[in-house]
Amino acid sequence: MTTVDLPLLPLGRGTDLNSERGVECPGDLPTASDPDLVARARAAKEALGDKVFVLGHHYQRDEVIAFADVTGDSFKLARDAAARPDAEYIVFCGVHFMAESADILTGPDQQVVLPDLAAGCSMADMARLTQVEMAWQAMAEAGVAQSVVPVTYMNSSADIKAFCGRNGGVVCTSSNAEVALTWAFEQKPDAKVLFLPDQHLGRNTAVLQMGLSLDDCVVWDPHRPNGGLTADQLRAAKMILWKGHCSVHGRFSPDVVDELRAEVPGINVLVHPECQHEVVLKADLVGSTEFIIKTIEAAPAGSAWAIGTELNLVKRLAADHPDKRIVFLDKTVCYCSTMNRIDLPHLVWALESLVAGTVVNRIEVDPETERWALVALERMLALPGKTARD
Ligand code: 13P
Ligand code: SF4
Repeated sequence: MTTVDLPLLPLGRGTDLNSERGVECPGDLPTASDPDLVARARAAKEALGDKVFVLGHHYQRDEVIAFADVTGDSFKLARDAAARPDAEYIVFCGVHFMAESADILTGPDQQVVLPDLAAGCSMADMARLTQVEMAWQAMAEAGVAQSVVPVTYMNSSADIKAFCGRNGGVVCTSSNAEVALTWAFEQKPDAKVLFLPDQHLGRNTAVLQMGLSLDDCVVWDPHRPNGGLTADQLRAAKMILWKGHCSVHGRFSPDVVDELRAEVPGINVLVHPECQHEVVLKADLVGSTEFIIKTIEAAPAGSAWAIGTELNLVKRLAADHPDKRIVFLDKTVCYCSTMNRIDLPHLVWALESLVAGTVVNRIEVDPETERWALVALERMLALPGKTARD
């Protein structure tokens, strides 16, 4: 039988090295069974001292979080990266778009490292620049582009952020989406928002926090001619939602919420706004990963919670709060496979390479993209306050 050398994930190897899908990881990795991994990571971090700053997103594995100097959601990590101009190396334990944002927000002499280049994001991959430019052109032909303010979720590639910067738009995260949308609607008379790439965060924020109706929202499908919308539909819409979603949060279903409520009377359902609208409608609380953590920390002992977000975080919350009953809002395992690409062997390899003077897996956004993406990111960082979901 002939064996075919297929990568485990459809990596962008050799075809599109800038793809959010990433590329294969080069170099000699320590084996996962190496009993010295923890000691090696500790020694490498100590050797690098203040030269290295390790950021860890809440969805990272425990073995990686153990070595993070700071943890956070994507908004907090973007701010934290910008606040450490003295660190020569930023090792980003998260996914590709987050490392790109860190590179944009840090100085030219600071080098951002993503320990495994295959740590991409399927949602970010759902909006490609050429697709967005075609949509923009179609909106111009329908006579609406001049009223559209593009808003992109942090979970998008740097060139999509740059598109928003160039076209008067902004970046948002799950913890400031309402503030960003309020800003966007104030930018033009009769403004419409093109929300990229997560239709669920856009819909949930517009309808549940801003008082828009579901009829105010249309979905632009990049795989259909004219996004599958007529010019009249585009003219009537307030929110044009890009047809993208998170493959992790999209799995939670309203039926499981009903089942859990029947099984555990009094259980509180707490979900991330990347979940489908039907799930969020049935939840008690909705908010970013940072909001989810703060809510559980503040919850009384003995309370019961079903949490709809990535499994690494839910398991960590359950372990850290044994006095509360914490269950996962899904019957099957639901890790983010790309977040999980960053493991201790990759972290050790990245840190030891830095100790040896080699910067591996550097994430570097080209200057023109960086210039405009920074405009959109700085607009976000300048937004007033944050919501109660901070
Ligand atoms: P936040 O970090 O903004 O909560 O986003 C969750 C997520 O899916 C990150 O990939
Ligand atoms: Fe992307 Fe969803 Fe994974 Fe976040 S959890 S990195 S949005 S696929």
